Amino acid sequence: MATRKMPVWSPAELHRHLTEGSRFAILDVRNRDEFDAWKIEGKGPIQTLNIPYYDLLDLEEEDEEIAAAVVRAVPNRLKDRLPRSGPILAVCAKGDTSTHVAEGLRRLGYQAFNLEGGMAAWGDHYEMLAVEETQRLSILQINRTARGCLSYLLASGGDAMVVDAARHTEIYTRIAAERGWRITGVFDTHLQADHLSGGVALARALGVDYWLHPYDSIHPDDLLPATFSFRYLEDEMVFTLGEVSVRALHLPGHTLGMINPLVDDRYLLTGDTLFIDSIGRPDLGGRAKTWTPLLYRSLQRLLTLPDRTIVLPAHFSHMREADDQGCYRATIGALRSHNEGLRMLGQGLDAFSAYILGSMPEYPQSYDDIRRVNTGLLQVDEAKAGELELGPNLCALTPHEAE
Ligand SMILES: [Fe+2]
Repeated sequence: MATRKMPVWSPAELHRHLTEGSRFAILDVRNRDEFDAWKIEGKGPIQTLNIPYYDLLDLEEEDEEIAAAVVRAVPNRLKDRLPRSGPILAVCAKGDTSTHVAEGLRRLGYQAFNLEGGMAAWGDHYEMLAVEETQRLSILQINRTARGCLSYLLASGGDAMVVDAARHTEIYTRIAAERGWRITGVFDTHLQADHLSGGVALARALGVDYWLHPYDSIHPDDLLPATFSFRYLEDEMVFTLGEVSVRALHLPGHTLGMINPLVDDRYLLTGDTLFIDSIGRPDLGGRAKTWTPLLYRSLQRLLTLPDRTIVLPAHFSHMREADDQGCYRATIGALRSHNEGLRMLGQGLDAFSAYILGSMPEYPQSYDDIRRVNTGLLQVDEAKAGELELGPNLCALTPHEAE
């Protein structure tokens, strides 16, 4: 079906609009289940309509042009629900159906755009921001916005280390090549449950070591060990990276083998131990009761670090957790009062445990298989990988938001 070239927003443009807080509306034509599981979110509310395209369109004939059917349907069904001023972003799973919907809206005079590549492309979009960039040390935060996943490239003296690599590993090799860095090690803070790690594949491709705490090389469900070889991380192990040191702190609770690297005594990559607004959930191993005291002790140990220590988490739940530059970071000093989980620590283990049990989000079924892939026990193709990673991460406790 021929259509004129539809104006689009690329995932990068969508990210810019979300970061800048631009005003726009979304018409998402995926089915309700897909929409409920995962939608585009920004710092503040976005006017969003979910009308599955088969509900919206009443095709007169099988081969009727979709855009023509949109032109017929919108005045009756959506006339007062779509803004006349300002952009409307049409969204579907892969950006194919929505291009015809956007075309129909354009014919009706709306300022419509199509999300290029749809939610699939949005889910695989990465942004990069420098947390620190000096002669001595560079820390880059790689942000997979739609999923709330953060990974890091650390570099000093031309040597670089990747922490918590996502499965699209070309982003790390490309950035390192552009900057003339040599990646000398790949490091996972823990066995990820919400997304597929690129750690093993990246280390293998580069011929460098992959580092993991041995406890996290075991699938927590059936206790099967990882099928790949790796170097063991342990508490208080110190790495030299160019001119700086990286000290491994073992902080179990979210997983048994959680390691938080302390970079240059200033930056703590907290993995899923501590986020900006929340803390890591201790139930993903199916033993919330026995792992909660571990998390309690780990967070207490973390709080013995100086207040000026900058926390760099592996996840965020909302874009509003970012600072003015769009970076997800905060000092331990600021988080002591701002972070609900840390505030609960001061009330003792019993109150902390009760808080944990009352803040547990749902347990996504895909997490078992994701950990199976991340331990090398299961191989999946690209389509299955995309399916497993659909939707936002659910690694954090749900803060009790003040309404
Ligand atoms: Fe996690």
